[in-house]
Amino acid sequence: MQTEVKLTTEQVMEARHSVRKYDASQAIPRGVLNEILRLAATAPSSWNLQHWRFLVVTDQTHKERLLPIAYGQQQVVDAPAVIVILADLEADKSALPIYNDSLAKGLVNEQVRDTLVAQIENAYRDNPQLARDEAIRNSSLAAMQLMLAAKAKGYDTCPMGGFDRDALIQAFNIPGRYLPSMIITVGKASVPAHPTSRFGLDELVIENSF
Ligand SMILES: Cc1cc2nc3c(=O)[nH]c(=O)nc-3n(C[C@H](O)[C@H](O)[C@H](O)COP(=O)(O)O)c2cc1C
Repeated sequence: MQTEVKLTTEQVMEARHSVRKYDASQAIPRGVLNEILRLAATAPSSWNLQHWRFLVVTDQTHKERLLPIAYGQQQVVDAPAVIVILADLEADKSALPIYNDSLAKGLVNEQVRDTLVAQIENAYRDNPQLARDEAIRNSSLAAMQLMLAAKAKGYDTCPMGGFDRDALIQAFNIPGRYLPSMIITVGKASVPAHPTSRFGLDELVIENSF
Protein backbone atom coordinates (compact mmCIF):
# COMPACT_ATOMS: atom_id res chain seq x y z
CA MET A 1 0.00 0.00 0.00
CA GLN A 2 1.29 3.46 -0.89
CA THR A 3 1.41 5.97 1.92
CA GLU A 4 0.91 9.57 0.89
CA VAL A 5 3.79 11.84 1.85
CA LYS A 6 2.81 15.48 2.02
CA LEU A 7 5.37 17.85 0.57
CA THR A 8 5.85 21.37 1.87
CA THR A 9 5.21 24.27 -0.52
CA GLU A 10 8.97 24.71 -0.93
CA GLN A 11 9.42 21.01 -1.71
CA VAL A 12 6.61 21.11 -4.28
CA MET A 13 8.19 24.11 -6.01
CA GLU A 14 11.61 22.47 -6.10
CA ALA A 15 10.23 19.11 -7.21
CA ARG A 16 8.16 20.38 -10.16
CA HIS A 17 9.88 19.95 -13.49
CA SER A 18 8.57 19.63 -17.02
CA VAL A 19 7.91 15.95 -17.67
CA ARG A 20 7.68 14.86 -21.30
CA LYS A 21 7.47 11.06 -20.87
CA TYR A 22 4.37 9.72 -19.16
CA ASP A 23 3.22 6.33 -18.00
CA ALA A 24 0.16 5.99 -20.27
CA SER A 25 -1.21 3.13 -18.12
CA GLN A 26 -1.59 5.35 -15.03
CA ALA A 27 -4.94 7.12 -15.16
CA ILE A 28 -5.66 10.17 -13.06
CA PRO A 29 -8.88 9.77 -11.05
CA ARG A 30 -11.39 12.45 -12.06
CA GLY A 31 -11.84 13.47 -8.42
CA VAL A 32 -8.11 14.19 -8.10
CA LEU A 33 -8.08 16.10 -11.40
CA ASN A 34 -11.08 18.15 -10.28
CA GLU A 35 -9.33 18.98 -7.01
CA ILE A 36 -6.24 20.12 -8.95
CA LEU A 37 -8.44 22.34 -11.13
CA ARG A 38 -10.26 23.71 -8.11
CA LEU A 39 -6.96 24.59 -6.46
CA ALA A 40 -5.72 26.19 -9.70
CA ALA A 41 -8.79 28.40 -9.65
CA THR A 42 -7.88 29.77 -6.21
CA ALA A 43 -5.32 31.95 -8.04
CA PRO A 44 -5.62 35.70 -7.66
CA SER A 45 -6.88 37.81 -10.58
CA SER A 46 -7.35 41.48 -11.23
CA TRP A 47 -10.75 42.53 -9.94
CA ASN A 48 -11.26 38.82 -9.21
CA LEU A 49 -12.41 38.37 -12.82
CA GLN A 50 -10.93 34.84 -12.97
CA HIS A 51 -9.76 35.05 -16.56
CA TRP A 52 -9.22 31.27 -16.89
CA ARG A 53 -11.22 28.37 -18.25
CA PHE A 54 -9.93 24.81 -18.49
CA LEU A 55 -10.52 22.67 -21.56
CA VAL A 56 -9.95 19.19 -20.13
CA VAL A 57 -8.94 16.60 -22.72
CA THR A 58 -8.88 13.03 -21.43
CA ASP A 59 -10.45 11.14 -24.32
CA GLN A 60 -7.80 9.26 -26.31
CA THR A 61 -9.28 10.22 -29.69
CA HIS A 62 -9.23 13.90 -28.78
CA LYS A 63 -5.67 13.63 -27.42
CA GLU A 64 -4.59 12.11 -30.71
CA ARG A 65 -6.17 15.06 -32.53
CA LEU A 66 -3.92 17.26 -30.40
CA LEU A 67 -0.75 15.51 -31.54
CA PRO A 68 -0.26 17.31 -34.90
CA ILE A 69 -1.55 20.56 -33.35
CA ALA A 70 1.24 20.28 -30.74
CA TYR A 71 3.77 19.65 -33.51
CA GLY A 72 4.06 15.94 -32.69
CA GLN A 73 4.95 16.36 -29.01
CA GLN A 74 4.10 12.87 -27.78
CA GLN A 75 3.27 13.93 -24.21
CA VAL A 76 -0.16 15.16 -25.32
CA VAL A 77 -1.09 11.56 -26.21
CA ASP A 78 0.64 9.71 -23.35
CA ALA A 79 -0.39 11.95 -20.44
CA PRO A 80 -3.77 10.85 -19.07
CA ALA A 81 -5.02 14.45 -18.97
CA VAL A 82 -4.26 17.45 -21.11
CA ILE A 83 -5.50 20.82 -19.93
CA VAL A 84 -5.79 23.70 -22.37
CA ILE A 85 -5.63 26.96 -20.45
CA LEU A 86 -8.16 29.31 -22.02
CA ALA A 87 -7.62 33.02 -21.40
CA ASP A 88 -10.90 34.93 -21.21
CA LEU A 89 -10.70 37.89 -23.60
CA GLU A 90 -14.07 39.18 -22.39
CA ALA A 91 -13.57 38.88 -18.65
CA ASP A 92 -15.46 42.16 -18.14
CA LYS A 93 -18.63 40.17 -18.91
CA SER A 94 -18.02 38.26 -15.65
CA ALA A 95 -18.01 41.42 -13.53
CA LEU A 96 -21.72 41.57 -12.78
CA PRO A 97 -22.24 37.84 -12.09
CA ILE A 98 -19.14 37.75 -9.85
CA TYR A 99 -20.06 40.83 -7.85
CA ASN A 100 -23.74 39.86 -7.62
CA ASP A 101 -22.58 36.57 -6.16
CA SER A 102 -20.32 38.42 -3.71
CA LEU A 103 -23.25 40.65 -2.78
CA ALA A 104 -25.49 37.63 -2.18
CA LYS A 105 -22.80 36.13 0.05
CA GLY A 106 -22.46 39.36 2.01
CA LEU A 107 -18.86 39.92 0.87
CA VAL A 108 -19.56 43.35 -0.64
CA ASN A 109 -22.34 45.87 -0.37
CA GLU A 110 -24.22 47.35 -3.34
CA GLN A 111 -22.08 50.47 -3.44
CA VAL A 112 -18.84 48.48 -3.63
CA ARG A 113 -20.34 46.24 -6.31
CA ASP A 114 -21.46 49.18 -8.43
CA THR A 115 -18.12 51.00 -8.05
CA LEU A 116 -16.08 47.95 -9.05
CA VAL A 117 -18.32 47.00 -11.96
CA ALA A 118 -18.13 50.58 -13.27
CA GLN A 119 -14.30 50.54 -12.93
CA ILE A 120 -14.11 47.28 -14.87
CA GLU A 121 -16.45 48.47 -17.62
CA ASN A 122 -14.39 51.65 -17.95
CA ALA A 123 -11.08 49.83 -18.15
CA TYR A 124 -12.24 47.27 -20.71
CA ARG A 125 -14.25 49.65 -22.94
CA ASP A 126 -12.66 49.88 -26.42
CA ASN A 127 -9.42 48.39 -25.10
CA PRO A 128 -8.81 44.94 -26.64
CA GLN A 129 -5.09 45.18 -25.85
CA LEU A 130 -5.81 45.52 -22.14
CA ALA A 131 -8.33 42.67 -22.33
CA ARG A 132 -5.74 40.41 -23.98
CA ASP A 133 -2.92 41.36 -21.60
CA GLU A 134 -5.16 40.79 -18.61
CA ALA A 135 -6.42 37.47 -19.97
CA ILE A 136 -2.93 36.09 -20.51
CA ARG A 137 -1.44 37.55 -17.32
CA ASN A 138 -4.18 36.30 -15.03
CA SER A 139 -4.76 32.90 -16.64
CA SER A 140 -1.04 32.20 -16.36
CA LEU A 141 -1.29 32.51 -12.58
CA ALA A 142 -3.93 29.76 -12.57
CA ALA A 143 -1.72 27.69 -14.89
CA MET A 144 1.17 27.88 -12.43
CA GLN A 145 -1.09 26.96 -9.53
CA LEU A 146 -2.39 24.01 -11.53
CA MET A 147 1.16 22.67 -11.96
CA LEU A 148 2.00 23.09 -8.27
CA ALA A 149 -1.31 21.56 -7.14
CA ALA A 150 -0.68 18.58 -9.42
CA LYS A 151 2.82 18.10 -8.02
CA ALA A 152 1.50 18.33 -4.45
CA LYS A 153 -0.86 15.47 -5.32
CA GLY A 154 1.90 13.34 -6.85
CA TYR A 155 1.34 14.20 -10.52
CA ASP A 156 3.77 15.64 -13.04
CA THR A 157 3.10 18.29 -15.64
CA CYS A 158 4.56 19.97 -18.68
CA PRO A 159 3.54 23.49 -19.68
CA MET A 160 3.51 23.86 -23.45
CA GLY A 161 3.46 26.87 -25.72
CA GLY A 162 4.48 24.82 -28.71
CA PHE A 163 1.16 24.37 -30.51
CA ASP A 164 -0.68 25.80 -33.48
CA ARG A 165 -3.19 28.11 -31.82
CA ASP A 166 -5.44 28.57 -34.85
CA ALA A 167 -5.55 24.83 -35.53
CA LEU A 168 -6.44 24.17 -31.87
CA ILE A 169 -9.24 26.75 -31.94
CA GLN A 170 -10.65 25.20 -35.09
CA ALA A 171 -10.30 21.55 -34.07
CA PHE A 172 -11.93 22.01 -30.65
CA ASN A 173 -14.52 24.65 -31.66
CA ILE A 174 -13.13 27.14 -29.14
CA PRO A 175 -15.34 30.26 -29.11
CA GLY A 176 -13.77 33.64 -29.98
CA ARG A 177 -14.07 34.76 -26.37
CA TYR A 178 -11.26 32.39 -25.35
CA LEU A 179 -7.60 32.42 -26.33
CA PRO A 180 -5.72 29.15 -25.75
CA SER A 181 -2.65 30.44 -23.91
CA MET A 182 -1.00 27.22 -22.76
CA ILE A 183 -1.37 23.46 -22.83
CA ILE A 184 -0.51 21.53 -19.67
CA THR A 185 -0.08 17.76 -19.66
CA VAL A 186 -0.79 16.00 -16.34
CA GLY A 187 0.18 12.47 -15.39
CA LYS A 188 2.80 10.23 -13.80
CA ALA A 189 6.32 10.39 -15.18
CA SER A 190 7.74 7.26 -16.77
CA VAL A 191 11.06 9.04 -17.27
CA PRO A 192 12.06 11.89 -14.93
CA ALA A 193 12.33 15.43 -16.31
CA HIS A 194 15.78 16.42 -17.47
CA PRO A 195 17.54 18.80 -15.11
CA THR A 196 17.48 22.51 -15.85
CA SER A 197 19.41 25.42 -14.41
CA ARG A 198 18.33 28.82 -13.18
CA PHE A 199 19.91 32.25 -13.02
CA GLY A 200 21.22 33.17 -9.59
CA LEU A 201 19.77 36.09 -7.70
CA ASP A 202 22.82 38.15 -8.64
CA GLU A 203 21.55 38.01 -12.24
CA LEU A 204 17.86 38.35 -11.46
CA VAL A 205 17.53 41.03 -8.84
CA ILE A 206 17.71 44.76 -9.41
CA GLU A 207 17.79 46.62 -6.14
CA ASN A 208 15.42 49.56 -5.95
CA SER A 209 16.01 51.07 -9.41
CA PHE A 210 17.93 50.62 -12.66
C1 LIG B 1 5.08 29.12 -21.57
C2 LIG B 1 5.89 27.86 -21.65
C3 LIG B 1 5.91 27.16 -22.84
C4 LIG B 1 6.61 25.94 -22.92
N1 LIG B 1 6.51 25.19 -24.04
C5 LIG B 1 7.01 23.93 -24.04
C6 LIG B 1 6.75 23.05 -25.13
O1 LIG B 1 6.05 23.38 -26.09
N2 LIG B 1 7.29 21.80 -25.08
C7 LIG B 1 8.04 21.37 -24.03
O2 LIG B 1 8.48 20.22 -24.05
N3 LIG B 1 8.31 22.19 -22.97
C8 LIG B 1 7.80 23.44 -22.95
N4 LIG B 1 8.01 24.25 -21.86
C9 LIG B 1 8.78 23.77 -20.72
C10 LIG B 1 10.11 24.51 -20.57
O3 LIG B 1 11.02 24.03 -21.53
C11 LIG B 1 10.62 24.30 -19.14
O4 LIG B 1 9.70 24.85 -18.22
C12 LIG B 1 11.99 24.93 -18.88
O5 LIG B 1 12.98 24.35 -19.70
C13 LIG B 1 12.43 24.78 -17.42
O6 LIG B 1 12.43 23.42 -17.07
P1 LIG B 1 11.55 22.84 -15.87
O7 LIG B 1 10.12 23.23 -16.12
O8 LIG B 1 11.74 21.35 -15.98
O9 LIG B 1 12.06 23.39 -14.60
C14 LIG B 1 7.34 25.48 -21.80
C15 LIG B 1 7.34 26.22 -20.61
C16 LIG B 1 6.60 27.38 -20.53
C17 LIG B 1 6.54 28.11 -19.22
